[in-house]
Amino acid sequence: MHSTESTLPDAVILLGRGGTGAAARETLHGLAQALQMRMAESRVLVGFIDKAAPSLPQALDLCVGARTVVVLPLLSPDEPALTRWLHKVAMRWRERQQAGGPSIRFAPALMAAELLPELAREQAMKALQQADVAETAGPQWRDDPVGWSNVPAHTHHALVCLGPRCTALGAVAVWDAVGDALKATPALQRRLRPLQTSCQYPCNHGPLAIVYPEGVWYGRLEVENVGEVLRAHVLEGRADPGHLVHRLQSE
Ligand code: FES
Repeated sequence: MHSTESTLPDAVILLGRGGTGAAARETLHGLAQALQMRMAESRVLVGFIDKAAPSLPQALDLCVGARTVVVLPLLSPDEPALTRWLHKVAMRWRERQQAGGPSIRFAPALMAAELLPELAREQAMKALQQADVAETAGPQWRDDPVGWSNVPAHTHHALVCLGPRCTALGAVAVWDAVGDALKATPALQRRLRPLQTSCQYPCNHGPLAIVYPEGVWYGRLEVENVGEVLRAHVLEGRADPGHLVHRLQSE
């Protein structure tokens, strides 16, 4: 099955970075819609390397019945180590498929596309039609919100990894569950500030979070248990042994 050749791929996954806000995701979805109109016979999906869902394995799950899937990484710059890891992710996903899974091909790096310099030149020329930043930044451009100078009253920080490997292991859903736990427990919300991070290195324990100031590393976090792990740590001073990976300091 893996050697199946076809004129068009059955599915194309546009693979991007999740970014810190909604803009990166919306941009990728917009590009997928535009590409779908140009590739009507293929199914065009999005996938995210980090910080957003669906991850690459989840996007591959959505390619049900496809014989050929093309993964098109929209990464800049192209990182060879990351690309090699993505190929391994695809191999592991396919290994789990009972029927053998589709042929999976990675498209060449976007930055190497022959048309890119010409597109860049066009965009640069269009900039000359745009207004100067004095017009676009607005009259209050010297002002920042007063709140940006206030130090919040949190006693703890949870550094939740949304790096590529944790994302592939379900970290985005875990991050959402952290937000749900804060909303459900006001005492936790007052004391704990969760922050997203990139890779913290022990990826095989992911999804992973480190809670400071104690410096306690928790791994294998899941939607069902992350709230309880954080509540126990912050409100009861107790480290859940089932998820404890490492302590930076002895208590
Ligand atoms: S991606 Fe989370 S620890 Fe590496």
